[in-house]
Formats: sequence, C-alpha cells, structure tokens
Amino acid sequence: MAGRIPQSFINDLLARVDIVDVIDSRLTLKKAGKNYQALCPFHDEKTASFSVSPDKQFYHCFGCGVSGTALTFLMEHDRLEFVEAVENMAALVGLEVPREKGAARARDNSNIYELLSRAAKHFRRSLKTSPEAVGYLKNRGLTGEVARDFGIGYAPESWDGIVRAMPDASEKDLLEAGLLTSNDKGRIYDRFRNRIIFPIRDTRGRVIGFGGRIFTGDSGPKYLNSPETPVFHKGRELYGLFEARKALRHIDRLVLVEGYMDVAALAQAGVANAVATLGTASTEAHFHKLFRYTQEVICCFDGDSAGRKAAWRALENALSTLTEGRQLKFVFLPDGEDPDTLVRARGRQGFVDLLDAALPAIEYLFEQLADGLTMQNLDDQARLASLTMPYIDRVPRGILKDLMLNRLHSMTGFIPEQDPRGSSQAKHTHTAAPAKLSPLSKRLLTYLLKKPELYQTLPVEKRRELTLLDKGDLFLDVVKYIDKNPEADSALLLGRWSGDAVHEELVVLFERRLDLAEGAMQAEFVDGVGRYVTHINSAERRRLLEEMKEAPSTDKLKRFWTLKKADD
Ligand code: CTP
Ligand code: MN
Repeated sequence: MAGRIPQSFINDLLARVDIVDVIDSRLTLKKAGKNYQALCPFHDEKTASFSVSPDKQFYHCFGCGVSGTALTFLMEHDRLEFVEAVENMAALVGLEVPREKGAARARDNSNIYELLSRAAKHFRRSLKTSPEAVGYLKNRGLTGEVARDFGIGYAPESWDGIVRAMPDASEKDLLEAGLLTSNDKGRIYDRFRNRIIFPIRDTRGRVIGFGGRIFTGDSGPKYLNSPETPVFHKGRELYGLFEARKALRHIDRLVLVEGYMDVAALAQAGVANAVATLGTASTEAHFHKLFRYTQEVICCFDGDSAGRKAAWRALENALSTLTEGRQLKFVFLPDGEDPDTLVRARGRQGFVDLLDAALPAIEYLFEQLADGLTMQNLDDQARLASLTMPYIDRVPRGILKDLMLNRLHSMTGFIPEQDPRGSSQAKHTHTAAPAKLSPLSKRLLTYLLKKPELYQTLPVEKRRELTLLDKGDLFLDVVKYIDKNPEADSALLLGRWSGDAVHEELVVLFERRLDLAEGAMQAEFVDGVGRYVTHINSAERRRLLEEMKEAPSTDKLKRFWTLKKADD
C-alpha cells in the first residue's frame, strides 16, 4: 500500500495552485472587487452568493455556508476522494505525488518566497542610495509612483550585497532562490550587480524572481533574469499581471508586450493593462492565464520580422484557448518603435487608438495564409483551405470558429463538414463501380492476366503507389488481388472473377494476341503502369476538386495534396 501523502506536499500544492484557476475552469467566475463570484454549485440559486478569494485562497458560499480550499472544492465538486483530488491538482502543476515511506520529501518553498521578498525590499531600499539609478529611471520617464507600484529597485555594484543584506540566510538557500550565482571556480557572488531591478510577482503578489537591466557601462547582457527555480517558471509567468489586477477593478482587455520597460512605461502613461512575457516566446500556458483575467488579449509586437514571427507563434499557441467570447487581436508597431517609445511619443490616447484599431486574429490568420494566393483558380482555393483548416481545427467550437469557416467558405466556396467534436472530418466515400476500361487499362490487364508475375517486377514504390490508389478500375482490382496473393497465376485470376459481370471481359483480354517479345512486354508494362498512376492521380485530383466544391473536408484536401506531391 502506498504511504501517506506528506502534509508539506499538500501545503506546497495549495501554494502553487491558484484556487481561482481550479474553480474558474469549472464555474463561470465574475470579478467582484477583490474577489470572484459565481452561482453556487452546491445549492440551487438565482443570484451569485458563492465567493472565491484569491488572497485567502478560499471559497465561501453566503447562501449555503460551504467553504474550503482548492482541494476541498475538487473533492466536493468533482466528487473525488482526497487522494484523487491531490493527484488531480498535482497533475495541474506537473508534480508527482510523493508518499511518506521511502519517497522523497516534498519541498516547502515558503523559505524561498521569504528570501525573494526580503531581497526585493533590499533592492528597493538600495534604489534610494543610487542617484544614478534614480536618474536613469527618471530619464526614461518613470515617476517614483510607478517605481513604487512595480517595486522597482536597484542592485548595488557589489559581489556580496545579498549576503550582507541577509546574513542569517544560508548560501545554499540564496543560490536556490537565484539570488546568488557561482562561477566555474566555485566562487559564489551576487547574481544582480549594478542593475535596475524589476521584481516579477505571481498573480498573488509574491515575488518569484527578478529581471535586472544594465544602465551604465556595458558589462553583460542588457537584461539578466532569475534562473528557473522551484518557484519561478519563465514559460508561465507574466510580468505586470499582478499589478494590472491591482490597478483595475475590471480588466476589459490585456495588452501583451515584449518588455518590462514597456509595461512600466505604459502604466506610467495610464495604460495599466499591459503585461509582458519574461524574455521568452508566448506559450499556450500564457494565454490560458491571460484569458482567465480578461476576455480580450491584444498582442502588441514590433513590426519587424522578429516581431512578426513572435506574433505568428502567439497566434498558433493561442488558438486552442479561444473559447466562446474570447478575443485575440494583434497590433504591429512602426519600425524602430516599441510600446515604451510609442506611448511617450503619442501619449496614452495615441496608444489606445492603436489598440482600438487592432487586427482581429481571424483577419491576421487569413491575411498571412492567403499571402501570395490569388484565389482566381481552384488550386489556390484548395491551397488556402488546406492551409487554414489545421488552424481552424484548433479553435474550440463557437462563434469564432464559425466565423473562420464562413470566411474560408466565402473565399473558396468550400464548406468543411464538422464532426460533433468540432474538428472537421471527411465522410467515408465508397469506390464507384469500375467504369468502362480505357485502352491503357485493357492493355495492362492483358499483360497481367497472361503473366501475373509481371507485377513483382515493378519497383516497390510503384507497387505501393498503385495499391494506395483508391479510385481505379478493373485493372486496379486485379493488381490489388495479386498484391495480396503473390502466388496467383492466370487460372486463379480468371477463377477469382468467374461468375462476375466482368469475367467475360477478362477472358477476352486474356486471350488477346500480343506480338511482343518477353522483354518488351515487361518494359511496356512498367512504363504503362507509370502512365496509369499519373492518369488516375490527376483524374482523382479533378474529382476531389469537384467534390470539395460540394462538400469539402480536411481529408479530401490532404489527399489532394498527397496526389499533387506525388505528381510533382
Ligand atoms: N530580454 C531578456 N534578456 C535580454 C534582452 C531582453 O530577458 N538580454 C527580455 C526582457 O524581458 C526584456 C524583453 O526581452 O524586457 C524585451 O527586450 P528589449 O526589447 O531589448 O528591451 P526593452 O524591454 O525594450 O527594454 P529597454 O527599453 O530598456 O531597452
Ligand atoms: Mn524598449
């Protein structure tokens, strides 16, 4: 039997998982002051009296009186056993559930949080002692008020500033918190030296890491960030989200920008709803998080090629999070500008005007994918459909997905079929009865009926191509039969179709006289098969294009492009 789950692990879990996330994925939460409200899932009610407190990490229903943590919520709401609920929550943050006996002790990160919080205080205090650092911030247009709201500080020019500021903390813990670093000679010293410090806080306001900007001289990278630590995961956190939530009662929209300074400068100008990734590309986890706090996200990137690349990646990573009611938009800034320089040049209203004119994700998607296509011919139309469908497939069912499908339809005439799960799928089509045989098929059949072993002389790829064709004629039927029955001789073949409508035709073809030498027959067969495959391919492509006009589907498009590729 598995041992007990250590209490420290459960505490750690409750510290890492935001109760708002857990409940929000199950109920519709509305912001109400500091808290969130919803209709209580534990009793019948018409007005929301179920309240969730992000500060206390607790829920309470003023109607029926239930209350508890994220863990009890999972147990009550999902009707899970304690252990199941713990495992469920651990999976949310990618943790293994440890067991007391023999298992590694779960870590308790409260010490790290504490050290980071003290370090942040130390950096803030140090800012006042450096006229150069203050001057730099002033120069960049930041007032003391914004510096205070964001907790901006200064790491003095020193190798042991942290140790001196926190003499009681162990070197090991300070290293783990990312405040100290070591070189290859084993020397241990301050990670942040002579840098402007931007503390990075989680949505609960706890300091989890720092970004440090160089501002005098040029030793080292422009920005230096905390390393990944037990509490700091760059791919998930957003700079400025805590501050935005604190400043705004209701967040209509969040603006995703690239830099710390952009967030701070925008706040300074009165745009309090900007957040930034931590020097990494935006991930799906980022969008999950963003959409938890707002219904509209505007990605604001540079207009240069790096910015365009970042925007496209953002789009790809965001599509799966665009559930009903959520909007994603894009703003591309003029060359050489970033939100910081732009808002300083044009002011708050100038920047808000840009946001108001943002390009909706659907426009951006089609603009990018239709680039270079004229839509004047079926090939372009099929291409656009095959390019867009994989993206549209990722969008959850809802108005946005419908709009995308409508747009695709109006541009191409295609109406993709939808399966009930919201992803497009082809209906299975049955092979039509073999049509009248072409002269080529007749000749190939004659060869094959007389000498079935000719089939084995085809190169493996040709055999594969042939057997993969799904629309063919009697020749293809015979080929597929021989492929499955390599020992078949003429008699077996004719016997196979005896009693069938096509039997007589086969006998006639078998008896046809051929004035061909052995070697010539084989060469002609190989050559003929090549032409046959091409012919069927292009016939099938034409047919697919016609069919797609009536009932398009991703599978048909995929098939179309496979055939086209095989042809090129
Ligand atoms: N960044 C980083 N490490 C670097 C450079 C950049 O982590 N060496 C990250 C930082 O999060 C930074 C963001 O990428 O905020 C954007 O970088 P950049 O545009 O170069 O800086 P700005 O934010 O514009 O800062 P500033 O205006 O002070 O130059
Ligand atoms: Mn900048």
